[in-house]
Parts: sequence; structure tokens; C-alpha cells
Amino acid sequence: MKAVEIKPDIFWVGAVDWEVRDFHGYVTPRGTSYNNYLIKDKELTLIDAVKRDYSSVTIENIKHIADLSKIVNVVVNHIEPDHASALGDIMRLCPNANIYITEKGKKGLERHFDMSGWKLNVVKTGDTLKTGKYTLTFLETPMLHWPDSMMTYVNEAKLLISQDAFGQHIASASRFDDDFMTCASVSELEDSVIEYYANILMPFGQLIKSKIADVHKLGLDIDMIAPDHGVIWRHSPQKVLNMYMDMANGKSDLSVSIIYDTMWHSTASMALPISQGVTDEGVACKVIKLRATPMSVAIKEFWKSRGSLIGSPTLNNILYPSVAEFLTHLRGLRPKNRIAGAFGSFGWGGGAVKNAYEEFSKMGLETFEPGIQVNYKPDAEDEKKCYEFGREFAKRVKEYHLKF
Ligand code: FEO
Repeated sequence: MKAVEIKPDIFWVGAVDWEVRDFHGYVTPRGTSYNNYLIKDKELTLIDAVKRDYSSVTIENIKHIADLSKIVNVVVNHIEPDHASALGDIMRLCPNANIYITEKGKKGLERHFDMSGWKLNVVKTGDTLKTGKYTLTFLETPMLHWPDSMMTYVNEAKLLISQDAFGQHIASASRFDDDFMTCASVSELEDSVIEYYANILMPFGQLIKSKIADVHKLGLDIDMIAPDHGVIWRHSPQKVLNMYMDMANGKSDLSVSIIYDTMWHSTASMALPISQGVTDEGVACKVIKLRATPMSVAIKEFWKSRGSLIGSPTLNNILYPSVAEFLTHLRGLRPKNRIAGAFGSFGWGGGAVKNAYEEFSKMGLETFEPGIQVNYKPDAEDEKKCYEFGREFAKRVKEYHLKF
């Protein structure tokens, strides 16, 4: 895709990755984009690079606007390779440019590049850089989502270049939210934001709240948010800010996700009457089989629901591997303000349901206990018990949801 002017003399010069379906383990059915931006001002300024596979794409995009050797400033908001691995190729073409980066970013960059001759300028929150008619203000956002992370605000354009935050894994010919919504739906865009947040930013809710407060404290008036992935928020920047505040405050749907795996269909046979019990209690319910669902989608569904029931058969006295993998992944994301319970079938010793509760306890989740277990295969009586388990869980979820 060619360069696009997003504000007067400020251009998107990134690359659209239509092909990626596995983004370091995060399934990306819609692909993604690596966004970076060029400010054509008295001092030509590049903000962020792209993934190295796309060095030539961004270099071509920049060349259509300006001579790369004339770049005076390069801002590096984030050093993760999807945004910084093309930096070496770019710096070869503008070796005299000044790089603006956080202290942690500088240390990380040293591990990736031979930076001899590079002019590095360490910046902190509130530092500014005048490029001509535009002024850039830097805002450190450590652990959102790496220690080096920062954002760049272009004062006169009221433009926040937000690196990963507010991004979505979407490959599209549309550069802007409003354009995207003419060929897709609002819910598709919102769902992409939620999935991205759940899989990348879930652990950082408190930090997100404090950084949004910093934005207000600094008096930054935001008219457009340009993330490093997906579409640019031209039409509804406030909407995505509100969505982030809601998610950081633990907002969820009053719904239940039943996330399970099964060996010989016994645990699956428990999931169905459980889901009927939940539904009959008036709570919306989704049933998700782990090996049939990408991990990132299962994580998103867990995050969207106030309550989840995790189903696992016992294999060799412990959790079934796909369920263990899901719970390990979830634990790293440090979910909050959610309630969980467990169910599953076993042949002889059991162990999976107990293990699931141990995992919930490590995560500090509210739990619904005891879980429910069935020996070998549920009979009619077991199915009734599963149905009641679903109903009781739904009642508890409704009570718990009132706290938020
Ligand atoms: Fe899109 Fe943290 O990289």
C-alpha cells in the first residue's frame, strides 16, 4: 500500500502484512500491518520502523515523499522486532539522523544492532522535539507493553502516535477506522481491539489507567490516534480510549464461556448440559473447544465473559495438555475481576479438576467451588447434576457481576 497523508505533511509509510497468520503464537486471521509515520517538516522526521521483512516497502513509501538521506530525526517508540528490526536498513540510508528513544529502549537496541556512529538521544516523559511547524512530546509508557515503550504526541496536529496501544491485528486497504467500517463492521473492529487487548495488554490494566491519566494531566488534546498496527483512529479516538478504560477497569459482558477439551467426548458431554443450565438461568453462554479454537480466540472469549468454566479430562492424573497450555497462557496474562469453575471426566484417579482450581488460585481468580467430576461417561443422573452446576454457576456470576 502506498503512503497516505494522515494529517497535513504527516504520512503513514508502513506496510500491510496480508499473509501473517501466526504472530509469535497469536493467531491473526485478519493479518496485520506495521505502521510507521513520516513528518515532512523543516526537519524530516521518521517515527518508528517496521518488521525487517518489509524494509523495502517502507523505504519505497518514504522515497515517494522525501529523500531518505535527508531524514534528520528518527523516533523509536518501541524496540520489539515488528517495529524496529528494519531500523538497521533505514539507518544505513540516513546515518546522520538523530535517534530519540527511552533509556530502556537504548539498552535493548544495543542488543540488536551494531550502533557505532548512531546518534542516540535518550528522552523522558514531557521532553519535546521541535521539527519545524510541529512539536513532538514524548510520553514514556514502560511495560505498555515492554520496558522501552513510549508514545509520541504531535502537539499541533493533536495526533497521538501510540505504538502498540490501541492497535489491532488487521490487514486492510483502509488506513482509517471510518474507511474500514464501510467494508467491515463496527463489531469486527471492536472485536479486534478486544482480542488485541486480551492477548497483549490484559496484564497492564492499572498502568493503562495511570497512563491515560497522564495524558489528561499533560493536557494532550487528542484528535487522532495512530497505532503501530491496524487502522488509525480518525473518526473515533475517544471510543477506543473509552474501550481501553473500560477494559482496564475490568469491564466484561454478563456472560459465561465454557472452555474445554475432551478425549472420548465425556467432558464434551458434560459441557452441553452445563451450558443449558447457564442459558436457562438467563445468562448468555459460549462453548469453546480448545483444540478447535486458536488460543488467542479462547483467551479473548475468557476475557469477554464475567465467568468461565474450564473443562478438562484427566490424563495421567493431571490436566489434559491443551487445557494446561490454555491455563498457563492465561496465568501469564494475570486476569482480574473474573470468576472461574472447573469440570471434567476421569477414569480412575482424577486430578484435572483439582489442578484447574490450583491454577485459578495462582491467578487469584474468584472461584466457584466445588467443581464437578464424572467417572468415565456422564449418565442421565450426571447430566442433571451438570445442568444444575451450570444453573448455580450462572446465579453466582450474576451476583458477582453486580460488583462492577
Ligand atoms: Fe507490535 Fe510490541 O510489538
